[in-house]
Amino acid sequence: MDPVFLLIISSCFGLSACFSAEERSRHLSLEKIYGRSVKDSHMCHHMLKHLHDGARITVQMPPNVEGHWVSTSCEVRPGPEFLTRSYRFYANNTFQAHQFYYEDNHCTKPTYTLLVRGRLRLRQASWIIRGGTEAEYHLHRVQIMSHGVAVAEELSQRLNRSCRGAVRGPWEPDVPYELWSEEGGYNCSRELNFAMHELQLLRVEKQYMHHNPDHLVEELFLGDIHTEPTQRLYYKPSSYQTPLQNAKNHAHGCIACRIIYRSDEFHPPILPPRADLAVGLYGQWVSQRCEVRPEVLFLTRHFLFHDNNHTWEGYYYHFSDPVCKHPTFTIYARGRYSRGLHSTRVMGGTDFVFKVNHMRVTPMDFATTSLLNVFSGNDCGAERSWQLGVEQDVTATNGCVALGIRLPHTEYELFRMERDANGRYLLFNGQRPSDGSSPDHPDKRATSYQLPLVRCSTSSQVAGRDPGGDDTSLRLSNGGGDRHRAGVAAVLLAIIVKGLSL
Ligand SMILES: *[C@@H]1O[C@H](CO)[C@@H](O)[C@H](O)[C@H]1NC(C)=O
Ligand SMILES: *[C@@H]1O[C@H](CO)[C@@H](O)[C@H](O)[C@H]1NC(C)=O
Ligand SMILES: *[C@@H]1O[C@H](CO)[C@@H](O)[C@H](O)[C@H]1NC(C)=O
Ligand SMILES: *[C@@H]1O[C@H](CO)[C@@H](O)[C@H](O)[C@H]1NC(C)=O
Repeated sequence: MDPVFLLIISSCFGLSACFSAEERSRHLSLEKIYGRSVKDSHMCHHMLKHLHDGARITVQMPPNVEGHWVSTSCEVRPGPEFLTRSYRFYANNTFQAHQFYYEDNHCTKPTYTLLVRGRLRLRQASWIIRGGTEAEYHLHRVQIMSHGVAVAEELSQRLNRSCRGAVRGPWEPDVPYELWSEEGGYNCSRELNFAMHELQLLRVEKQYMHHNPDHLVEELFLGDIHTEPTQRLYYKPSSYQTPLQNAKNHAHGCIACRIIYRSDEFHPPILPPRADLAVGLYGQWVSQRCEVRPEVLFLTRHFLFHDNNHTWEGYYYHFSDPVCKHPTFTIYARGRYSRGLHSTRVMGGTDFVFKVNHMRVTPMDFATTSLLNVFSGNDCGAERSWQLGVEQDVTATNGCVALGIRLPHTEYELFRMERDANGRYLLFNGQRPSDGSSPDHPDKRATSYQLPLVRCSTSSQVAGRDPGGDDTSLRLSNGGGDRHRAGVAAVLLAIIVKGLSL
């Protein structure tokens, strides 16, 4: 995209002249757009609707982060790195964060622990990520502790080369060493790609659990980690990591929460060993929450995988707000996929290749409709023909330049599967590159994952009719005060969505 062009469009969205369309509040049934496939995927659709209603979630603004927050499972960071986190925030604005690192993808073999102390100050509501709060942190002290003789030796040699001063003699296991301190005069952040920039963006959500209305779960979302490890030190978060849960109010089935809660640097958490599940994509999968893509995109996803002929279909519902209530546009895409081998880079992962060769777009608010009509040339469906809530096939125009999507498109994917505490299957696919590009080359394949989708049906087949037709309505955005913001969002997304990603 040409940045000058984008600037023009975004200022256009600031002018009311660009919105001659009468503002109306309308309702539109999804099945009118998608026909049978949505109607028939009753369970899947029910789960999405629940998300779109923003049910049971309250967001604290400004967030109160005081308390003890823990990972809910073994986390995977780009690299890959396998870790669990245990962060305490105190009333006097100081914090103490434990990051426990492991050699395996189930977090059963601890290698070393980082113990980070510092001070946190909340700033203003984020203007990049609606619903997030910006914060500043200041480190007091960073210590490292190795678990096991071999790790101690390896780490002290590595840091002795790159971070003189930190290593005054061979390191011993289970002894804390300074990596950085205010008095220290050395700084080993670069060697370990260590930064706490995740504390620059925060969000706290409270949610009453499905099956137990008395049971409150509190979640702390911290800023995302750049997918390129060397960029981590310089990256300001623009979306979130998997949330931590408040140790006092965590989900009942969360065994990892309990283990991590009781741990410290001398007793790193050892999670229960599990076998890697073979990835079986068949059936349908939906988002479990309103997801945030770097910068300004909020979305929910619904995928159908047909393993009989290795084709897939995906619905991407985009929204302008962090609880996925105000739709901006919807994409339907389909294509073929092929399974590769076990990942050689990411333990527990499996490589896939996805192709997109068919796509339809539905603008769901005035801003996006205008954006699509502003583009001249036949680069996104028929020129100036877009109407609010009316789907167009953009396959013939090779996708949609306005949305940054060109067809046919190939992506190199990474998948893994897991079962949650309720026995449901979760599907993780690769994190999108933080630079906004698309993993269109094997070298750009992800080394970490997005938030998981949950299997909502084992069948990818279109079955009988859904009797609960009313259930499937999704309200069109009437714009209102969100028009400008949504317009800018639509422009920004043209920069960000370079290629469609699962
Ligand atoms: C802040 O509070 C924590 C927990 O009560 C305490 O351990 C720490 O020393 C306090 N820090 C300062 C700078 O007061
Ligand atoms: C650190 O490096 C110096 C110089 O190469 C070497 O003499 C020393 O033994 C090393 N220390 C450790 C703990 O590896
Ligand atoms: C340590 O070094 C890194 C990279 O050079 C820098 O970004 C960071 O601010 C330093 N940390 C501190 C606490 O000075
Ligand atoms: C693949 O199989 C699914 C389910 O059987 C079917 O709906 C779809 O049309 C097939 N696609 C192709 C390209 O054959």
